[in-house]
Amino acid sequence: MAKVSIIGAGMTGSTTAHWLAEKEIADIVLVDIVEGMPQGKALDLQEAMPIIGKDVKIVGSNGYDETAGSDIIVITAGLPRKPGMSREDLLAKNADIVTSVVKETVQRSPDAIFIILTNPLDTMSYLTMKVGNLPPERVIGQAGILDSARMRAFVAMETGVSVENINCYVLGGHGDSMVPLTRHSNIAGVPLRDYIPADRLEAIVQRTRKGGGEIVSLLKTGSAFYAPSAAIVQMVEAILKDKHLIVPCAAYMQGEYGLSDIFFGVPTMLGRKGVEKIIEYDLDEEEMAALKKSAEAVRKSTELLKEMGKI
Ligand code: NAI
Ligand code: 2OP
Repeated sequence: MAKVSIIGAGMTGSTTAHWLAEKEIADIVLVDIVEGMPQGKALDLQEAMPIIGKDVKIVGSNGYDETAGSDIIVITAGLPRKPGMSREDLLAKNADIVTSVVKETVQRSPDAIFIILTNPLDTMSYLTMKVGNLPPERVIGQAGILDSARMRAFVAMETGVSVENINCYVLGGHGDSMVPLTRHSNIAGVPLRDYIPADRLEAIVQRTRKGGGEIVSLLKTGSAFYAPSAAIVQMVEAILKDKHLIVPCAAYMQGEYGLSDIFFGVPTMLGRKGVEKIIEYDLDEEEMAALKKSAEAVRKSTELLKEMGKI
């Protein structure tokens, strides 16, 4: 059985363990600094396995030895965004947490693929690659699957069509300047722009951009966790099963879309090696301008990290 270690056993980490255990594709290690909490959650989940009929081992720990030899390390450790707090406000605190997590995990699992959730997501992925001295294809940020799923959900609510028929592609950084590609998105092959009136489609685009904030305002004490963790599990499954699945993820840019030296949300092909390929869509001038604007926001955050001396 493959082994997946999830660092940070809070809302997203423990929900990832839950979705993942149901797949029965990997044993799971949950790590957190809160004493007893990862052990308690792991044992509780382990005790659910006889009921759902899955033979998965789940271990909780406050240390890292149990993570040794992991195929995938998922990093959700950090602080969530509070109401009124931007993702960038989290930068300094989460940079220190992610740095320590990467150092602890890389030495015990030198061949692992890293999936990063901690915000600001694009910048934390960059930090992981640098601190861990990892090849770019082995560091993948989760954002695009979530942002695209939100758009798909809103389109389904608007049209009443099955979510399975709805394909949406949201690229760019995981922030308010993300780029929902309405021209490439479709309902069973029919372009969204032909299916939904322009004003309604624009409302969906705006709601997608603010999707994370909408959940934060409702929850008040934390941020989204069901959809983000479902997205992580889709990535884990694509990697472990070597599916060559094309999904939007944050990947290291090396000239694609005219961008370099940042992590950025683009269509990626995921398989056993991690990011096997970055797919380049044919974008028009307006789409490319929106992507460049979003890239500047990510670059600013990455530069800030450098100015703070974190990398
Ligand atoms: P949470 O507060 O429920 O869980 C975070 C956990 O990390 C806590 O249990 C905390 O004790 C732990 N932690 C803190 N420092 C640690 C360390 N040094 N080592 C190990 N564990 C440590 O927060 P939640 O909701 O799980 O969110 C986690 C992060 O993921 C946040 O930064 C949040 O903004 C981000 N996020 C990103 C999303 C994305 O799409 N990229 C979606 C949802 C959340
Ligand atoms: C979200 O989009 C908090 O980034 C997180 O829900």
